Amino acid sequence: MIPVILSGGSGTRLWPLSRSAYPKQFLGVTEERTLFQLTLARLEGLPDVQPPLIVGNENHRFILGEQLHALGIKPHAILLEPVGRNTAPAIAAAAAAAMADGADPLLLILAADHVIGDTQAFQQAVRIGIPAAESGAIVTFGIVPTSPETGYGYIQVAERLSGDHAIPATAFVEKPDLATAQKYLADGRHLWNSGMFLFKASVLMAELDRFAPAVAEAARSAVAKARADLDFLRLDKDAFSASPEDSIDYAVMEKSDKVQVVPMSAGWSDVGAWNAVWDVATKDPQGNATRGDVLLHGVNHSYVHADHRLVAVVGLDDVVVVETSDAVLVAARGAVQDVKKIVDKLKAGK
Ligand code: GDD
Ligand code: MG
Repeated sequence: MIPVILSGGSGTRLWPLSRSAYPKQFLGVTEERTLFQLTLARLEGLPDVQPPLIVGNENHRFILGEQLHALGIKPHAILLEPVGRNTAPAIAAAAAAAMADGADPLLLILAADHVIGDTQAFQQAVRIGIPAAESGAIVTFGIVPTSPETGYGYIQVAERLSGDHAIPATAFVEKPDLATAQKYLADGRHLWNSGMFLFKASVLMAELDRFAPAVAEAARSAVAKARADLDFLRLDKDAFSASPEDSIDYAVMEKSDKVQVVPMSAGWSDVGAWNAVWDVATKDPQGNATRGDVLLHGVNHSYVHADHRLVAVVGLDDVVVVETSDAVLVAARGAVQDVKKIVDKLKAGK
């Protein structure tokens, strides 16, 4: 089994800590080790686990190299994308690279930017998924939903999951609207897609050939013409750029009838925005979580992060304050999804 770590996202809602040059997966959000490093550390002890295959953006190659080196990990390869084309092309390139020498390994696709509290439970879910993936299923890991999130994919199942085997998904809906998400939450037959997958490389490529042939073709060609450079494998720019932009969820998961689900209760969080960081953080009796040099008085249920200076907050509830050397965010904890709007304004030149 080869772990494939998707490391190319931009993490805009964790601005100002997360920047396009240094996105959240490369930051210590919950502790000293970065989310990317914690993703790698979580693999130790899985059966037949081979060195990881990293897929990331060309611009982040030094960060990737450094953070792997710090853990003493020699990767299978670091696949460098000349441009981001979303997850379907990234995963297709990983599958094509893993099959380059005629092999057909199991690939465990992981996002580099998730928090998982319970490593044992995560590993147990992976173990349960292995026989299903070996017999040709595309395994996803399903989380019992606790709110009508519209930023996740939903997997519909026919029966309640017992917890010890994979069961077929009867439908997969990526990012539904709020009314649909509320219905899914209420009916008890839907799970969140965690964005982690397990399948044989050949099974995924066959589904891509069927549902997104241009993505499969571009990936094969970009790998065939790739340039090796130390641990890096630089995907061919023209071939990879020719790929349509698509997520694996729209390209394959919504269409394939090979999708099976393994339930996972592992304290999983896609730390998408600051309230999710507050959620998973250790809090004081007032419900405050802090990082760095912070002083609080009369503050409740807040997240305060000081990167470069002393930050003091007085008499506020439910706020997020994030200080960095060149930007400070102050936001209502309930409104942090809109941090994206600030990033959009910055991108547009304000
Ligand atoms: N290498 C590479 N290249 N990685 C990428 C790219 C890319 O072009 N685009 C995204 N990624 C990485 C991100 O860094 C992240 O780790 C992972 O792939 C998933 O991409 P997101 O962009 O974060 O996806 P999402 O959060 O909108 O949705 C996915 O994850 C949800 C759970 O977090 C879907 O799978 C949903 O169904 C799922 O619920
Ligand atoms: Mg995500």
